[in-house]
Amino acid sequence: TTTTTIAFAAQSAYHIRTQLPPALSKPCIGIICGSGLGGLAETLHSSPQFEISYTKIPNFPHSTVVGHAGKFVFGLLGEKKTPVVMMVGRVHFFEGHSIEKVTFPTRVMKLLGISTIIVTNAAGGLNPAYSVGDMMIINDHINLPGLSGAHPLRGPNNDSWGPRFPALSDAYDLELRKVVHQSYKKLPGTTETRKLHEGVYVFVSGPSYETRAECRMLKMMGADCVGMSTVPEIIVARHCGLRVLAMSLVTNKSVLEEGPRGDAVLVEGKDVGELKGVMEMGKANHEEVLETGKEAAKDMQALIKQFVDDISG
Ligand code: 6GU
Repeated sequence: TTTTTIAFAAQSAYHIRTQLPPALSKPCIGIICGSGLGGLAETLHSSPQFEISYTKIPNFPHSTVVGHAGKFVFGLLGEKKTPVVMMVGRVHFFEGHSIEKVTFPTRVMKLLGISTIIVTNAAGGLNPAYSVGDMMIINDHINLPGLSGAHPLRGPNNDSWGPRFPALSDAYDLELRKVVHQSYKKLPGTTETRKLHEGVYVFVSGPSYETRAECRMLKMMGADCVGMSTVPEIIVARHCGLRVLAMSLVTNKSVLEEGPRGDAVLVEGKDVGELKGVMEMGKANHEEVLETGKEAAKDMQALIKQFVDDISG
């Protein structure tokens, strides 16, 4: 963490703080809403509420992907009216931002006073036991780009933020994970329709979806879900001492063995691969990711809301 990054983040936080209504001036929890999961912001108490577009914040990176509007929404969430700050839309590494830029908003939220961060995403299911629409509490990760150089903490360390060599073995807070399981049980509609798993999330840079061979590799590595976000933010959050809860919504199954085209299903030179329309056998596509996001999003949002009530005093 360079001193400049911190100075820029402080500037951004100051710009926001000076506009916040007093009741929202100290959010306890930051929530990064993944693709299609921004609806949680609409469940905030309507007043007081404050929102600011990323384009209006100095030094802030903007999002360019369809379906990823970019704004902070401040408000009171749930029955306990917990003051939160939500990111509706995030920037991704694949958009061309550096990993430092991708994690910049997390630093700003830390400076705004949050002590816990909830990070959500839409992810591809690699574990065959997972169905589309299931949810996964992330209990560990594989930082594929980070292991080979694209790491958010690369560069001079700012010791006032955290240690040079932070441990990540306890990144996914056990107590918070326990609470999510309890919260889930309070939502009968949800327990009937979708499972709650715990598993490993592998971060890949994207923007292409994985090939079959890559899916096999990621599965062999021990990953249960694959996606293009979350891990950089979590590393920066842990580095500066935030408690972390991270959740994936399985919006599609990552491409498995069979497929309609590509390397699929030639028998004695004849194409027998007419397997159209079945997502898990075909192509991953962004529309389907957003579509399933919509349907399952409500349940995921309800779970997050219940969780926030359950951890708030
Ligand atoms: Cl299948 N792969 C990746 N990398 N990210 C995703 C996804 C798949 N589905 C949703 N996000």
